[in-house]
Amino acid sequence: MAQDIHREKILQKLHNTGQEQVLRFLGELPQDQKNTLLLQVSGLNLDKIQVCVENYVKNEVSVTISEHFEPAPSYPASPGTPQMTQKYARARQFGERLLREGRVGGFVVAGGQGTRLGYDGPKGNYPISPIRNKTLFAIFAETLLAASQKYGTAIPFYIMTSPLNYGATVEIFASADYYGLGRDNVFIFQQGTLPNFGFDGKILLSAKDQIASSPDGHGGSLKALYAAGAVADMKRRGVEYLSYWQVDNPLVKLMDPLFIGLHAMDEAEMSSKALLKAGPLEKVGNFCLANGKVTVIEYSDLPDEQALRKNPDGSLVFELGSIGIHIINRSFIEKLSAGGDFALPFHRAVKKIPYIDETGTLVQPDKPNGVKLETFVFDALPMAGRSVILQTLREEEFAPVKNAAGTDSPDVTRRMMVERAAAWLEAAGVKVPRTPDGAPDCVLEIAPGFALGPEDIKTKRDRIPPIAPGCQICLE
Ligand code: UTP
Repeated sequence: MAQDIHREKILQKLHNTGQEQVLRFLGELPQDQKNTLLLQVSGLNLDKIQVCVENYVKNEVSVTISEHFEPAPSYPASPGTPQMTQKYARARQFGERLLREGRVGGFVVAGGQGTRLGYDGPKGNYPISPIRNKTLFAIFAETLLAASQKYGTAIPFYIMTSPLNYGATVEIFASADYYGLGRDNVFIFQQGTLPNFGFDGKILLSAKDQIASSPDGHGGSLKALYAAGAVADMKRRGVEYLSYWQVDNPLVKLMDPLFIGLHAMDEAEMSSKALLKAGPLEKVGNFCLANGKVTVIEYSDLPDEQALRKNPDGSLVFELGSIGIHIINRSFIEKLSAGGDFALPFHRAVKKIPYIDETGTLVQPDKPNGVKLETFVFDALPMAGRSVILQTLREEEFAPVKNAAGTDSPDVTRRMMVERAAAWLEAAGVKVPRTPDGAPDCVLEIAPGFALGPEDIKTKRDRIPPIAPGCQICLE
């Protein structure tokens, strides 16, 4: 009886919001599939969905940018003045202290669908290191292990997956015995999902008993960290800062004392690393200051005339690109989540979405047929009381694996990993053979356990063999 009333209520709500089509095949489903579908439908916040449909699905111009914005101030990659040199040294020491005190955790967002790479399985399991073929997850975990050893503390590793790749990710970590981090120090959890829509705003079905849905974007991480108990886990351990990065970037310096120190010394709530853009229209978000708040404006939302603006010295006015590296305070996530109604804006992506048509046939569209909604974590920046931006260097810290070939492909990432290893070795006085065009004439890999940065190499000079042209050397 209670079940019938509940079902009636769902039907009524679907009717009122014009979404009854999701139950189109209910009558022909066996009982267990009926239940699955009704459970999914009852989990939808249909009132919110109705607003989303009007604002973001049917309405193409979904993002409004502030009328007045200027470039955001930032710390340069290297300090330019004696005062800054001192400040950087103090910040580095402070960051190291916070690390030693166990106040920093690692957090990778790994819930994306990786459609551009087209890899079967969680992207974190993609083999990327140039010689040992270590996966992205292995590189991050080994880096955390090395940092835990360096700072004499167990740094917890938080990993956000989507419902689609959660099981596979858990399996990968379990079968790798948590890469030596210890099961207790690895916290894997799921982000939320959002339904997919046709252009008419109707929720699509991916099967007769399944609502088509996709992960709610990396912005979903803030809610998911709280809802999944990761924030409570951080509190229990005394972790106050989360170092946030994306699963596709093996170069990330994921425990950077300078970044952590500057963030904490400036009492920021959420901070970011930035790159000087490769060109005015590079497809990265742009750091701006809007109404006094650090804000990222997506490349697609920044008008070309703004993107192309130059300073008198020829540099771009909006020269800082966002690369998905942040420090986020636990207290900031608690503050946002505790209120209950915190929401990041939705971004609309027009996609090819497989769906079940009214005859019950699965359609694989060959052109975009609907809308997926996503939230972006950088949209939380303006909600932070303070926010620091630290510039970093592309060759040191950013080589994302996005596409199967061409730009941001595994080949480019591997080449950049070798080039960075060569630069670290040369900085420590090791001779690296190079081709006439300046590229390393060898394949090099530096395991995180060997060195977390060039500074760790100097103390290990005696373990580095001579590097002959054309050879392969893995330092571990
Ligand atoms: P991307 O924007 O590159 O998206 O994610 P993607 O889904 O991985 O790849 P494509 O666009 O389908 O090819 C940037 C980072 O944000 C994470 C990804 O795992 C990656 O680390 N992410 C993205 C999530 O964790 N959840 C999401 O819902 C989306």
